[in-house]
Amino acid sequence: MIPLLAETQLPAEFIRRYENLVPPATRDDFFAACTSPLRPALRVNSLKTTTSLFQKLAATHGWQLDPISWSPLGFQLSSEQTVTKSLEFFCGLAYLQEAASQIPPLVLDPQPGDWVLDMAAAPGSKTTQMAAMMKNQGLLLANDKDIKRISSLVFNLEKYGVTHSLISTVDANELGNRLTETFDKVLLDAPCSAEGAARKDTDYFKQWQPQKILTIANVQRSLLLSALKCCKVGGTIVYSTCTLAPEENEANVNWLLQNYGDSVKLADIDLSLPFSPGITQWQAQTFAASLTKTVRILPHQAEVEAFFVAKLVKTAALPGKDLTTPKPSLNPFEKYVRPKDRSHILALVQDRFGIDAATFAGFELTQIKESTWLKPTGWQNVANHVRIDRAGLPLGEIYHGHLRISYPFSLTYGHLATQNTIAITAAQANEYIHGRDIYLDPTQTQNATTGQIILTNAQKTLGRGLLQDQGKVKNQVKKAWVVF
Ligand SMILES: C[S@@+](CC[C@H](N)C(=O)[O-])C[C@H]1O[C@@H](n2cnc3c(N)ncnc32)[C@H](O)[C@@H]1O
Repeated sequence: MIPLLAETQLPAEFIRRYENLVPPATRDDFFAACTSPLRPALRVNSLKTTTSLFQKLAATHGWQLDPISWSPLGFQLSSEQTVTKSLEFFCGLAYLQEAASQIPPLVLDPQPGDWVLDMAAAPGSKTTQMAAMMKNQGLLLANDKDIKRISSLVFNLEKYGVTHSLISTVDANELGNRLTETFDKVLLDAPCSAEGAARKDTDYFKQWQPQKILTIANVQRSLLLSALKCCKVGGTIVYSTCTLAPEENEANVNWLLQNYGDSVKLADIDLSLPFSPGITQWQAQTFAASLTKTVRILPHQAEVEAFFVAKLVKTAALPGKDLTTPKPSLNPFEKYVRPKDRSHILALVQDRFGIDAATFAGFELTQIKESTWLKPTGWQNVANHVRIDRAGLPLGEIYHGHLRISYPFSLTYGHLATQNTIAITAAQANEYIHGRDIYLDPTQTQNATTGQIILTNAQKTLGRGLLQDQGKVKNQVKKAWVVF
């Protein structure tokens, strides 16, 4: 175990390593901030609500929200607040996301219609942020090679109403060769030594090992090259880490510029929070002068964990080998829905809930056995080159001509329903999110018929339920979502 200096809880070697990273006058503040606890932060999900409405809802709970001046949808919370068991979080109105972690997507600035790659995406805080910035338009490939983290990625994409995403679970090193020059914007939020996370993890420095920095830096270099290959000429790449180590930050970007400088250059980053420019000197190494365009967000300069962000623009093509024989694009059980069946399925949605079929114009429909899926247009172009584990959103299942909408579909599109939608009380909603059936009084059911319904409470969409006789609503919350 690394010995910690009692007065700072930091290893002596950590202090030696970074004492010249900041001016002497701020050294004590810097080291003190490296382990001081951080206020939690959230990001309002603009796919589901607005900041003003969310602030009103938060006020009903007495949550103290302090706007983060540089993140338009970000707020800091006082630490003791427990918000995640609320109806607002259940419905995906806000995501608990550390303030500095909101910066890389803001720098990348994905727009509606862009094709965007998130190379190391799980659990999806930045993927969901980018999906909201894209207004669910375009294509968003979320990749992560760690299968164990994929279920939280799927959960978050469903909960936060993301409809235009694909998920793959390959080593991101493969993507550069399989999806060469495919994306307008690429985010590489790299696996790193995570020194910045020490503010959240009090045990972090007990395992800190400087030797690991060089190993992870090599991993990051090859991922950075893969990111460059995936990006279209003229497109943008954002490289971010939550660590202080220059080997993982400026040295890697410097390596990319040195070796692929004909194809890539650094761009300025415009941020309205205090930060330090990237360094150009570290130990015996001197980096390109343009490295000052990169950004170091240091823990004593703002109420954040340490982050490093570089914005790169691809200026010329870079050959990428196409290693792949095209992958089978549909699994053998998955079929495109024929146009007449598409109209029929969307008519079932419209007949039951009044949701206009035109809402789904940007989607292709496929079917796997009884399940119908909404797939974002263009998904096939990606699926031809890399195995896609999941594309789009399940619409529902059809049994004997009857449609049963899926839970994520009801949560994502339920706000568009004009019929068979029922407003319930907060007490009923509370029963519902705990997985229990609820019982309505006759005034609540007068505009609905028995069968599937959408439940709402105070401008929040809770999802589907099954209205039975005498006002009983059978709970249809997906098991993994039930609040305990
Ligand atoms: C910093 S975390 C990503 C956090 C995520 N971007 C977010 O904001 O929620 C880094 C991720 O990289 C993934 N990873 C590590 N090596 C990878 C590789 N070679 N290819 C793809 N993903 C990788 C890890 O599984 C981990 O989920």
